[in-house]
Formats: sequence, C-alpha cells, structure tokens
Amino acid sequence: MQYFKHRNNTLYAENVSTASIADQFGTPCYVYSKSAIETQWQSYEDALQSHPHLICYSVKANSNIAILNLLAKKGSGFDVVSIGEIERVLAAGGKAGKIIFSGVGKQSHEIKRALEVGIRCFNVESEAELERINHIAASLNRKAPVSIRVNPDVDPKTHPYISTGLKENKFGIDINDALSIYVEASRMNNLDIVGIDCHIGSQITEPAPFQDAFNRVLSLVDELKENNILIQHIDMGGGLGICYNNETPPSPMEYIQPLLQQLSDSPLELILEPGRSIVGNAGILLTTVEYIKCTTYCNFAIIDAAMNDLLRPALYQAWQDIKAISKHSSANEKTYDIVGPICESGDFLGKQRTLSITEGDRLAIYSAGAYGFTMSSNYNSRPRVAEVMVDNDQAYLIRKRETIRDLFEGETILPD
Ligand code: LLP
Repeated sequence: MQYFKHRNNTLYAENVSTASIADQFGTPCYVYSKSAIETQWQSYEDALQSHPHLICYSVKANSNIAILNLLAKKGSGFDVVSIGEIERVLAAGGKAGKIIFSGVGKQSHEIKRALEVGIRCFNVESEAELERINHIAASLNRKAPVSIRVNPDVDPKTHPYISTGLKENKFGIDINDALSIYVEASRMNNLDIVGIDCHIGSQITEPAPFQDAFNRVLSLVDELKENNILIQHIDMGGGLGICYNNETPPSPMEYIQPLLQQLSDSPLELILEPGRSIVGNAGILLTTVEYIKCTTYCNFAIIDAAMNDLLRPALYQAWQDIKAISKHSSANEKTYDIVGPICESGDFLGKQRTLSITEGDRLAIYSAGAYGFTMSSNYNSRPRVAEVMVDNDQAYLIRKRETIRDLFEGETILPD
C-alpha cells in the first residue's frame, strides 16, 4: 500500500489532497501518513511476535510527539540519545521502563534523570561511562541496568557518515575487549548487567552485515556465560534501510526471521531500535517552486525549501525522489537542479531531475519522514517548517511553523 499516491494527476496523502494541505498550512511543510507509520511498526511486531522482544523506535529519526504518541499507544519502546529525547517520550505518553538510552556522550545530569525516571537500560559505550553510571547510581542508592555496546567491526556497506560498527568509528567497545569490560562491570556494585547491544550503521540494504554482527554477538554471549555473566537481552540496534530510489532492502520479516531461527528457543529477548524503516517512507516534504532560472549550463528550479529544512541531500549526497504534486503534460519537460534559497552551492534537494514545472507549482520530496525535520535548523534565519499528520481524510497540524519572532526569542543585546 502506497500512502502518497497520485490520483487524477493530483498527489494524495492517504485521502487528503496535498494541494489542500499546502493551501491550509503553507509550504514548506512536512506531511506524514498515520497509517504508514503504524503499518511499518506493526510489520516489526508481526515479524517478532513469536519471540520475547521489544521494539524501541529510534526517536532521532523523527521525534514529533504526535508520532511518539502513536507508537507509545501501540506499545512501542524507544531508543533515545539525550535527555531531550527522554522528556519527549515521557511527554508523548511513552513508558520510562521501555526506554533504552544510547549514545557516546551521556552527561551526568542525563544519567541522573534517566535513573530517576527508571529507564529500561543504558547502552554503555566506554569504560569511563560505566564508571560514571556506577558512581551516579551509588549516589542515588540505585542499581543501573546496563548493556555494553560492542563494536563488532562489520562493514555495513552504507554511506561512511552513517556507518558505526567499524573499528575506526567512535562507537561502542571493541568486541575483542568486551569480555574483560563485562567482567569489570560485574564487579561494580551499582550496576546490573542486563544485555549486549550493537548498532552497525544506518540505511543498510542487505542482510549479510546484520547476520555477521549477530554471529559475533552470539559468540560473545557464550563467552559471557562461561564467565558466569548472564544477560537477558540482545539489542541489535537499528539500521534497516528503505527504498529511496531503487534499493531493495529486506523487509523486517526477512531481516528478523534468520535472527530468530538462530535464537531458536533461547529465552534471550531481542531488542531492535528501528528509526528510518518506520518513518522514512511515511513522510514527504511539500515545497513550492519560487523561480525557474535557466542558464547556459543548467536549469534551476528554485524552491522555498532548503538544506536547512532537509539536510540529507547536501550532507550525504542522498537521493530523494521529487515529483510535482499536480502533474502537467510531459510536453514541457526539462531537466532541473532543484535548489533552495540558501547562500551555499551545497543547497540542493535534487540534481538532474526531469520535471514539467513552472513557477508556483508545488513539489513533493519523497522519503522525508526520517532525518528530515529532526535534522532541520534555522540557518539563514529561516523558521522551521510546519508538520502535518494525515489520518485517512483528515489533516492535523502536529507542529506549527515557527514565527520570525521565535527565531530570536531568548537572545539579548548587551547593555549600552
Ligand atoms: N540506534 C542507534 C544507536 C543509532 O545510532 C541509530 C541511528 C539508530 C538506532 C536508528 O537507525 P535507523 O534504523 O534509523 O537506521 N542522519 C542519517 C542517519 C543517521 C543514523 C544515526 N543513528 C541519515 O539521514 O541518513
């Protein structure tokens, strides 16, 4: 089922025309499909149901509280990387006991708050962090549930900026050193060792790297057992890719089934932290063509969205599909670079796209539900855009567009 589809030459989000959304809420504007999000989450649930599991949606992919609330209502857990994300999850109705706290740089105040609210587990990334968590837990007279994030040195075959499981990456603890660090952790009084964690990267489109990482993690589980360290869960992180163009990533079922077969009747709970594969194709960015500018070298379609609204093309040379929301005849087709108004040549949303468009037309940038709004900024003093969620034939504003005033709220000038 496609949630963004042209009918009679007009793009619909579920059963709402995107033109009416643009009229009502303006552009640029992110539009999400409620059913797409729920269906994607459910596909994980369906693949995992036969085995003890927890799906911890990775909040960084899209942290709007309406989305977190939808998932919390389905019983989702959450993978977070900051106190801000923890507070968002709680504000959205998520349960503290289903929060996994990842990240290489957890600060003391974040650890303290996480312990106070009673999160499910800290994914620990260094010895120094283990010591810090132990110390803070002692001061609160608690035991902190911890899992060690191991770095299995597996090449996820994705963009270098989003691969995390290679030994040169800053993430996790070298899997070869993990046993001795688990032993060290087991001697700390205020830690409760509950699991093993690994996350090798993002937008992974083939099963082999996951399988390799899983095998390495399973060997470590055996070694731990030999050393009387018994864990309750394996967290394989996130990373399953989506189709932006012509990629053919495994479905959650295809990815998860082999892992479950290997776990067989082991009682170890399987935790996953999917982000992109839940929300990525559940969102589009609507934008308007401001100007058409044709030079001897290139045709530019200058739009009202920019790299500050959707950074992925500029940062990772990511390809995201772009289509006009109302299709004209192909008679006027030309090849355009789709660029924003920001003063940087890297400010493009797509290059060499064949479209039949004119000034004032609206475009949809596809696959924008993950790492779109969450990576947006106010660069060039551009207010962050509105977010809208569609549920069948209704569109709801789930984040209002920032105002110009919001841009310098909180700033002060020096006294004379
Ligand atoms: N768990 C951890 C520890 C992570 O670092 C990440 C993503 C995830 C889970 C979720 O991974 P996913 O299922 O979404 O692949 N901004 C980049 C992606 C960065 C991913 C960072 N970590 C992009 O736009 O492609």
